[in-house]
Amino acid sequence: MKEYTSENLREMYLGFFEKRGHKVIPSASLIPENDPTVLFTTAGMHPLVPYLLGEKHPAGKRLTDVQKCVRTGDIDDVGDERHCTFFEMLGNWSLGDYFKKEMIPWSYEFLTGEEYLHIPSDSLAVTVFAGDETAPRDDEAAALWEKAGIKKENIYFMPRENNWWGPAGLTGPCGTDTEMFVIRKPKCSPTCNPDCSCGAFLEIWNDVFMRFNKTAEGKFEELKQKNVDTGMGLERALCVLNGKTSVYETDLFATAIKKIEELTGKRYGESEEVTRAFRVLLDHVRTATFMIGDEKGISPSNTDQGYILRRIIRRAVRYGRKIDLPEGALAKIAETYVEKYKHAYPELETNKARIAEELNAEEAKFSKTLQQGLKEFEKCVNGIERKNAFMSAKDPSYVPETVIGGKQAFHLYDTYGFPVEITAEMAKEKGLTVDIAAYEEAFKEHQEKSKAGSEGKFACGLADHKTETTRLHTATHLLHAALKKVLGEEVNQKGSNITEERLRFDFNFPRAMSEEEIRAVENLVNEKIKENLPVVMKEIPLAEAKKEEFTGLFESKYGDVVKTYSIGDFSREICGGPHAENTGELGKFKIVKEQSSGAGIRRIKAVLIHE
Ligand code: GLY
Repeated sequence: MKEYTSENLREMYLGFFEKRGHKVIPSASLIPENDPTVLFTTAGMHPLVPYLLGEKHPAGKRLTDVQKCVRTGDIDDVGDERHCTFFEMLGNWSLGDYFKKEMIPWSYEFLTGEEYLHIPSDSLAVTVFAGDETAPRDDEAAALWEKAGIKKENIYFMPRENNWWGPAGLTGPCGTDTEMFVIRKPKCSPTCNPDCSCGAFLEIWNDVFMRFNKTAEGKFEELKQKNVDTGMGLERALCVLNGKTSVYETDLFATAIKKIEELTGKRYGESEEVTRAFRVLLDHVRTATFMIGDEKGISPSNTDQGYILRRIIRRAVRYGRKIDLPEGALAKIAETYVEKYKHAYPELETNKARIAEELNAEEAKFSKTLQQGLKEFEKCVNGIERKNAFMSAKDPSYVPETVIGGKQAFHLYDTYGFPVEITAEMAKEKGLTVDIAAYEEAFKEHQEKSKAGSEGKFACGLADHKTETTRLHTATHLLHAALKKVLGEEVNQKGSNITEERLRFDFNFPRAMSEEEIRAVENLVNEKIKENLPVVMKEIPLAEAKKEEFTGLFESKYGDVVKTYSIGDFSREICGGPHAENTGELGKFKIVKEQSSGAGIRRIKAVLIHE
């Protein structure tokens, strides 16, 4: 079998499309410019959104690229065979130029052609869209595949969950797609299909036929032009083509693995635990290298992209400790990535010194407190275990405690620099969970205190301030629900701050609200206040809360039981409280300001007036 490397696959892909009239464009930054609804570029299409919507691209209507992407939704799964937080997406683009009848034969040619991937035609399966109320069944794509040479029985019609792609953020271009799979082994049953997890079908590529724009209201509007967006994940394709089971066995990681072996004296694959630690390090250091080395250079911090970077580096440090990785080693691993990737991504070479400096600084900062923090964590776990043992001995019906309190998790964050996600992961290893809602509450309390302190404002003397902030808290829930009703379900809380005078609420929304929208939200909140609705607190399992569609700012999968607050049928949120007992006591709600608070984020300030 031919051995594919990352270098020759990139080159082969770009070359194929260059020959077919495409201009090769460089990867854009990891921070999206055109999609404020997400922190990172998560797909090849992000940087091209304006052009997919009809703006003229300076390089023309046919483009091809390799885009660096970051997806951090599954950080905790990194360590298995396939999850990565960084990946490269090979893509080609038709901006209102060719469509299905060109793209499908090209896909077939690239997959099967002798000088390209050379996959036997009978080892390929494809899926096409089965049709629904937004778009019809894609018989055209199926016919084109059959004509190209795919066996009819290897063409599967699949629903929206499988064959609809995008938008990459909350709004934007999207459409039906056709996906291509390599058949690895016989089907596990007669009904087995490319969606089956038995491993018979491995996805290698997709062609999106982009005809729609999803609006902030959740509507699908026909685009002015028909586009094609194809995506072949480089890591996954290398894995499939070379018959590997793990992305970490591709050439992309080979020198980094050697480096970690050299630094620790351990061998990749020597045990499950060691392999897991290697993979976390391999993935996280690579992602950190690309984040810091990006043309927009991210630095570790406590907010947004910087927080994700901090969390990734600190998780890498923790896993490094498990295999005796010496301090200062992250930068040495990063160096191997700079070497490996600098031809495709010259910015890494340019920012080489910065990458080492930032990694060393963050590692040193966390190393100082890590040991003590781990001790503190152990103390906390021991405390729970001792209490459980003592109580169970006394009372056989005693239900053991399994939750680490929010205050303790906040202490670990505030004093020892443990991101709460890391504490939650360590807790999980001990069969425990963290009370995330209470952590959030402790965090908020701390923020409010330091804010009050820094502004020199003291609440004393205002006997009623606690009641008032509680009311504003309830008003915040009403506001959140009203915004969703008026502007669309996609609107979500991005931040909140309450003083005894006013509430402040940040949420994602791509433009300024109109005067009518502001009034509509205000009226809706006041209507609910007039209805005198009781505010009901219930503690329920998180899974149940999710099923019943409670909104949660911090939907961790760790907290077993969460506090929920319902206000009639109008608002349902996972929240630590406290709240007013009844909306009737809130007074009159008034929005005093609506303004921007960063890219794609709006901010509302509102007050309660008591007459
Ligand atoms: N072509 C869409 C994607 O896979 O990113």
